[in-house]
Amino acid sequence: MMKKRRNKRSSTKTYFCTPSVLIALSLLSTLGTHAFSRVSSLLNPTLKANVGLHSSYRSSLFKATEGNTNENEDEAEKLKQKAKDLRQQILDMESKLGDRAPRSIEQPPVPEEEEEKEVEMTLKNKSVLVIGANGRVGSKVCRYLLRNFPQTNVVAAVHTVGENSSRGYGRLSYEVGAEDGQGYIGAAWSEDREAYYEYTDDMKDYNLQNLRVVEVELLDPAQCVTITEDIDSVVWCATDFNGNTPRSISSLDAAFLFRAILNPVKGRVEVEGLRNILGGLKKGKTNSRWESERSGDSVEPRVNKSDPISFVHLSVAEDALPDFETTMGRFKDIKRQGDDMVMSEFPSLTYSVLQMSRYEDNFVDESLAIKMDNGDIETSQEDKSRRRINRRDAARAVADALVDRSLVGKKVEVWTELRG
Ligand SMILES: NC(=O)c1ccc[n+]([C@@H]2O[C@H](COP(=O)([O-])OP(=O)(O)OC[C@H]3O[C@@H](n4cnc5c(N)ncnc54)[C@H](OP(=O)(O)O)[C@@H]3O)[C@@H](O)[C@H]2O)c1
Repeated sequence: MMKKRRNKRSSTKTYFCTPSVLIALSLLSTLGTHAFSRVSSLLNPTLKANVGLHSSYRSSLFKATEGNTNENEDEAEKLKQKAKDLRQQILDMESKLGDRAPRSIEQPPVPEEEEEKEVEMTLKNKSVLVIGANGRVGSKVCRYLLRNFPQTNVVAAVHTVGENSSRGYGRLSYEVGAEDGQGYIGAAWSEDREAYYEYTDDMKDYNLQNLRVVEVELLDPAQCVTITEDIDSVVWCATDFNGNTPRSISSLDAAFLFRAILNPVKGRVEVEGLRNILGGLKKGKTNSRWESERSGDSVEPRVNKSDPISFVHLSVAEDALPDFETTMGRFKDIKRQGDDMVMSEFPSLTYSVLQMSRYEDNFVDESLAIKMDNGDIETSQEDKSRRRINRRDAARAVADALVDRSLVGKKVEVWTELRG
């Protein structure tokens, strides 16, 4: 009897210790109470769980080993069927095992990495500094930015705010429409002698609330550092030349006039002024990153994918104007020196160099399609020198370049029409 009992135990044990059952065991913690009682009663022969199916299976199995096959033939068939059912139940449990599932169970496909989407550059909530903002192109750049990018702050850097002339900010104020407001002045003989000025409703699209005017002497590095603080992008429109003729140095104050005479090479807006602004911009950007690190905010990445271009340089196309000798070197060499500086001396700043063809405001229409050549277009020297552009389109081209990813790190010639 003892032997039989041992056999019974050993046969039960052998049957239920297959890998499938071990896996099923691990399911116990996750299955409901009913399933738990069923499976645990199967595994422990001493546990007399009141589960019909399994207790009858055990006793029938015991009887079958006694050799009384005739009496139990039907019973054996039933047992086979029940065993089959049991195996099926165990297989069902296995398929519910999740990450413990057998390797043969197909795993869900690993999602493919999302393709990197091209992020649009934006000027939203950015501050753009326009250098030479009272110039013929610079003033139009300010106007275009204010009217076409209404969520952008425009910082207009003029040479001398104090002068009420084309050397002050008169051209800028005319271009941006500040003079369209309505002014009132009380009659001299009346009690109401107040004078005031109002922006009208028609002016709401001018977005003058986004305009700030600052004064700068580009040959003074300290001023250049100050005006480039908190600036995201710069559009450079300043020049020491009127076309290809040197501008009068009469506007320079005594200190700068003295400096210019002492060292004329240092007095060039095209080179020294440009370097001052690029240096200031780089410093401003470095400082703001450092500040955010110090305050414990998460450090911003060097360049966000949506950031506009840091520096757009308005320059002159090679064949736009005739070359000539200046006290500071040849005109074209000075212009190329500026372009090269933008492209090579400040690698942390993104840039675009737009070399404009000759300006023609009277005979070339505005709002024409902008054409660009980065050296790929095969054309004759003669046709190159016939390229022209209206200043208003030149202003549009440099402003739009700020958010044109295809122009990052590029130098291109820009024109709209051939003339002459
Ligand atoms: N003429 C052409 O056909 C032609 C063709 C292609 C490209 N370009 C280029 O286009 C660009 C813009 O031309 P533009 O006609 O608009 O020139 P612009 O009217 O003479 O404007 C230049 C601006 O730079 C300012 N500026 C000069 N020296 C300065 C200084 N030391 N500090 C601060 N501001 C200073 C001037 O201010 P103040 O007047 O108050 O001093 C002026 O507002 C230039 O780079 C030019 O070479 C010209």
